[in-house]
Amino acid sequence: MQTLVIASRKGGAGKTTLSRSIGVMAEISGAGPVALIDTDEQAGLAMWWNARESQTPVFASVTIDNLKSHLEGLRNAGVKLVVIDTPPGLNSESTATLEAVLPNADLVLIPVRPSPDDLRSVGATIQLVEQAKKRWSLLLTVQLIEQVFPVR
Ligand SMILES: Nc1ncnc2c1ncn2[C@@H]1O[C@H](COP(=O)(O)OP(=O)(O)OP(=O)(O)O)[C@@H](O)[C@H]1O
Ligand SMILES: [Mg+2]
Repeated sequence: MQTLVIASRKGGAGKTTLSRSIGVMAEISGAGPVALIDTDEQAGLAMWWNARESQTPVFASVTIDNLKSHLEGLRNAGVKLVVIDTPPGLNSESTATLEAVLPNADLVLIPVRPSPDDLRSVGATIQLVEQAKKRWSLLLTVQLIEQVFPVR
């Protein structure tokens, strides 16, 4: 089982959208069974899942305290890929959540909008991931603002 953590301390970078897109595409392409985990109290991933008709990828309801044993349970149940969405922010609560989640990651994907502001702020996320000694990759998301609102 592989565990993919989607992280960005910047709000609105595209974490939840990426989590669900990767989860669904991995399931469709045969890399599953896939399980989704939402560790953000905003619960955007959970609300999306509840509104869906399809039961796959499955949604695993876990708390941070029992994350390790839940991941073990998913592995034993035959899950091949776990995708974990995480909260934004620099406060102590979101830091604690990330610090609890990151040790479980095989790979951390960091969505980042292709803008100078977003690229400037991505260091805070990378720093935490490096502290956890995890492999990571940036993933550019969302159209360039100039494409949405042409400047010429
Ligand atoms: N690749 C994309 N292309 C276009 N729009 C996107 C893309 N990814 C995300 N968005 C849009 O950007 C907004 C924020 O996305 P999303 O909720 O996934 O970010 P987030 O990082 O999870 O936010 P938060 O930090 O609040 O949890 C949403 O309106 C979403 O539809
Ligand atoms: Mg989100």
